Amino acid sequence: MTVSSAVHPLQQLSASLRDAEAVLVPTDLAAGDVFPAPPGDMLHALCNSPASRAAIARTVANWVPGAEQPAEPLHGLFIMPVSLPRTLAGGRFVVATVLSNALECETIELLSQSASLDARLARSILAAGNPWDRRTAMRLSRIVTALANSESERLASMDAGIQLSAAWEELHLLHSISAEMALGASPMRFVTNILAEVRNTIGCRWTALRVNGPAAQLLNVSNGGIIAEGIEPVAARRILDAVGGIAKSSVVGEDLVVSTVRRDADALGLLAAGDRVVGNGAMSSFERTLIETAASNLAVFLDNARLYRDLDAMFLGALAALVSAIEAKDPYTRGHSQRVALLSRDIAAAAGMPEAVVKQIHIAGLVHDIGKIGVPEIVLRKQGRLDDAEYELIKQHPETGFRILRDIPQFAPILDGVRFHHERFDGHGYPHGISGEDIPLPARVIAIADTFDAMSSTRTYRTARDRGDVLGEMARLGGTQFDPAILKHFFRVDLTEYDAMNAAHGAGLNDPWRKAA
Ligand SMILES: [Fe+2]
Repeated sequence: MTVSSAVHPLQQLSASLRDAEAVLVPTDLAAGDVFPAPPGDMLHALCNSPASRAAIARTVANWVPGAEQPAEPLHGLFIMPVSLPRTLAGGRFVVATVLSNALECETIELLSQSASLDARLARSILAAGNPWDRRTAMRLSRIVTALANSESERLASMDAGIQLSAAWEELHLLHSISAEMALGASPMRFVTNILAEVRNTIGCRWTALRVNGPAAQLLNVSNGGIIAEGIEPVAARRILDAVGGIAKSSVVGEDLVVSTVRRDADALGLLAAGDRVVGNGAMSSFERTLIETAASNLAVFLDNARLYRDLDAMFLGALAALVSAIEAKDPYTRGHSQRVALLSRDIAAAAGMPEAVVKQIHIAGLVHDIGKIGVPEIVLRKQGRLDDAEYELIKQHPETGFRILRDIPQFAPILDGVRFHHERFDGHGYPHGISGEDIPLPARVIAIADTFDAMSSTRTYRTARDRGDVLGEMARLGGTQFDPAILKHFFRVDLTEYDAMNAAHGAGLNDPWRKAA
């Protein structure tokens, strides 16, 4: 929201003050020379010179909110606070004048040089203008206060248009948030996009979210649960910790707005925006409304994401249980499907596949051998070489798995991975004998994970092979059994998690009760 018009809302006040040998000066250095003045207006030029503006900005930065007092940033440069809501006034201002005693000191030289003016000329013009002296300057301060009060009332009556503008900003923010929600982004991406959107809408230097408990776990954040945009997390944390507990939302000073992110009774976090740099630079109830809108949408999203994550975990858990029940027929393949799922997921991620595809490949890896439910147990558990008829039965399992899953609509994206995971890149696989890129991508990924796990884990007829031998064999199979373009990503996968899983599954093989079972 900006206060914009050809004529500045404080133009009238500026003119009245100028009649009293005083100048209205914006404290924001980026605001420029807001009130145009005729070329010969020496007082205006000196008070708006870069040196004057810099000294004023330094002094104002040190004013304690609510206890601002007239001050002299430079000897003889006298400034008075102006109590006007920044939202209505279009920024923060002070009233400045050059006192008569400044005419005798080097402040005039400094300001004239800064304004590219001749100091002698400046001195003589100022002297002719009947400048205030230090003794009577406090009377000027009282005039300033009276003028500012009446200006405040006039501006408040113009407020309706500004409120309309604020409503538009809120609507725009809501629209952006709902668009983000519809895209189905990951929780972290959603949060960072919302932080950027709020920062952009409010026009502030930074935004930050501090999350706690389940929300921090969901987003997997460290840094004390801080996600920040435009500010170091450490700095954001310091500011948010200083805010303390707030009921719902609040404007802290004119530089910060905060809102709790709350879903029913659960406090999920605290959203903040600070250092507004557009418009008048102040945070007001409008910005508070905006951040409250963002916070309440964020709460809904985080809550839904948590629910989705729980459902997803339950779904994967149920699938894993089903697969384990099948693998129980042969204790030596126990955990194989989970390890293939893990490796397939990591290969797909290493290849830079989209998050949704990585997830589909993970699930396909988990159920890739589900068709073995149709293979007689005696064949699955047979120690030693299979005869041709038995091998034919084994070769049917990809197609059986496909038939089991094909009627479940939600499994459609993972059917290819199940059906074609025993195809070879050179076309000598089974059951269809297709080759190269005719083999769907998920199946080419799972084939690599499947073979690696078969070679790496303990089987009926042998113990696990040495890692170096296995990797050497895998490399040799590139271009014949495996797609070399995917194989190179397999070699980049960190196998730590896989090894831990393999060790956990292998441990059960030495369980005497299990052996007896
Ligand atoms: Fe298989």
